[in-house]
Amino acid sequence: MKKYLVAFVMALLPVTGFAAGGAGVPLDHMDVDLHNKASLQRGMQIFVNNCLGCHSAGYQRYERAANDLGIPVELAEENLLLGDQKVGEQMTIAMTKEDSGKWFGNPPPDLTLEARLRGADWLYTYLRGFYKDESRPWGVNNTVFPDVGMPNVLEYLQGVQTLNCTPEELLHSERKIDPLTGLEMGGCFSITAKGQQTPEEFDKTIYDLVNFMVYMGEPSKLDSHRIGTNVLIFLFIFFFIALALKKEYWRDVH
Ligand code: HEC
Repeated sequence: MKKYLVAFVMALLPVTGFAAGGAGVPLDHMDVDLHNKASLQRGMQIFVNNCLGCHSAGYQRYERAANDLGIPVELAEENLLLGDQKVGEQMTIAMTKEDSGKWFGNPPPDLTLEARLRGADWLYTYLRGFYKDESRPWGVNNTVFPDVGMPNVLEYLQGVQTLNCTPEELLHSERKIDPLTGLEMGGCFSITAKGQQTPEEFDKTIYDLVNFMVYMGEPSKLDSHRIGTNVLIFLFIFFFIALALKKEYWRDVH
C-alpha cells in the first residue's frame, strides 16, 4: 500500500512543480487561429518590418512562409525581403551575435521557435507589457520580463505606456479597455503619449504578430490539420467498404 502511495505522490510531482513555476504576472490569453490567413499575413509583415532588424528567424524561409500563408511570391519579394536577399533564403540578419551582445547586453535570440518556448499567451502579454522606466537603458521595462534588454520597438504604434501600480498590485490586476474611447481605464496601465494606434488596434496588431510567430514555430501544423481531417474522412468511408467486404466473405460461410 505504501508503495502505491509513494508512486501516486511521485506521479503528481510534475503537476505541482509546473504550477509553482507558473507564479508571476497573470498572462493575457489569446486564441491562436492558424486558419486566419489574413491575420497571419499581417503578422508576417509586422514581424519582417519590426523584428528582423535585430532578431533572426533562421529556420524559416521567406518562400515557405509566403506559400503557406497564400502571399504571392512576387509580392513577398517586393515587400518583405531585406536588402539583397532572395525569396528562397532563410530569414537571417546581418548583425552578429558579438556586436548585438555588446550593444544590448544580451544578444536578441533567434525567434523561429520562440512561440514554442514561451507559448502564445506569454508573447501576447510580453509584447504589450512594455512600460516607461527611466532607470533602464532603453527607458522601458517589461511586466513579464523584468529588466529586459529590448527596447519597445512598437512604441510608435502603441504610444508610451505608463505603469500606475506596484508590482504586487500588478499580480492581481486586469487590463480594462473603455469601450467608448478605446483607452485603458482603471487597472495598472495608461497610455501617456499616444501612438499611431488605439489600444484596441494595438492589441489586434500584437494578436496577428503572435499568431504568425506560432505558425513559424510549427509550419507543418497547417498541413497536419488538413491531412488529419482527410485521414479521418478516409477511415470513415473505408469502414463501410470493410463492412461490405466482411458481409460478402461471411455470406458463403454461413
Ligand atoms: C533593437 C533590437 C530589437 C528589435 C528590433 C526587437 N528586439 Fe526583441 N529582443 C532584443 C534583445 C536585445 C532581446 C534580449 C533581451 C534580454 O535577454 O534581456 C530581445 C528579446 C526578445 C524576446 C524574449 C526572448 C526570450 O528570452 O525568450 C522576444 C519574445 C522578442 N525579443 C520579440 C521581439 C519581437 C516580436 C520583435 C518585433 C516586434 C522584436 N523582438 C524586435 C532586441 C530587439
